[in-house]
Amino acid sequence: MARSRRPVITLDGPAGSGKTTTAQAVAKRLGFRHLDSGALYRALTFALLKEGVPEQEWRALEAEQLTALNVEVEAEGDVVNIYHDGVLLTSDLRSPEVTSSVSAVAGLPAVRDWLLDVQRSVGAHGNLVADGRDMGTVVFPDADVKIFLVASLEERARRRLLQDHGREPDVAEIQEEARRIDQRDQADRSRSHSPLRRPEHALEVDTTGLPFDDQVSLILRRVKDLTPL
Ligand code: DC
Repeated sequence: MARSRRPVITLDGPAGSGKTTTAQAVAKRLGFRHLDSGALYRALTFALLKEGVPEQEWRALEAEQLTALNVEVEAEGDVVNIYHDGVLLTSDLRSPEVTSSVSAVAGLPAVRDWLLDVQRSVGAHGNLVADGRDMGTVVFPDADVKIFLVASLEERARRRLLQDHGREPDVAEIQEEARRIDQRDQADRSRSHSPLRRPEHALEVDTTGLPFDDQVSLILRRVKDLTPL
């Protein structure tokens, strides 16, 4: 198959496998746009919580109501910004409230359909590194390079806490976070719409003991092998 000169690279994997930081670094090295698709699910979750839409009503939400939540995605150059009511969303997306409700929101078919167009328009011109759960399977099935990142549950929990608190967590904290991540993994893998799975032909990279720079280099090598870059 002829490969695109403006490639799309997908990174999928379970929570805390390092997708977003890795995708960011790969995009930066290539001068590509980075799409953190998890942030889009988090933005809709943030808006639903902020607008006080009761959880028991989420299942019945339709596209029109999702549009009315006023979540906007603006992509310019290599930057993708997400707004709610015109306000740029940053750390709010990672609050514990958003994190504990986002799997329920990501399991809603109406939400996934609504976000499909958004994600594809961000990637319409290629030169994109997209990370998430269904990037290589559903959103960009023709992507030029597909990566599936995995890591042990404890390591993923440790990284999540380090990222969120900026310090090395203790054993009890890691166990507690591992339990939460495991629950989210189960929800992501078992939902009927776009469950998390390894895309066909994806390169699986286990990052448990792999230094970050090696991980990035390995992916860049794969990009070099599979694209005309
Ligand atoms: O990667 P993350 O923790 O920011 O993802 C937040 C949630 O969104 C998580 O429950 C999985 C879900 N998600 C998804 O279902 N599909 C994606 N492409 C990205 C994230």
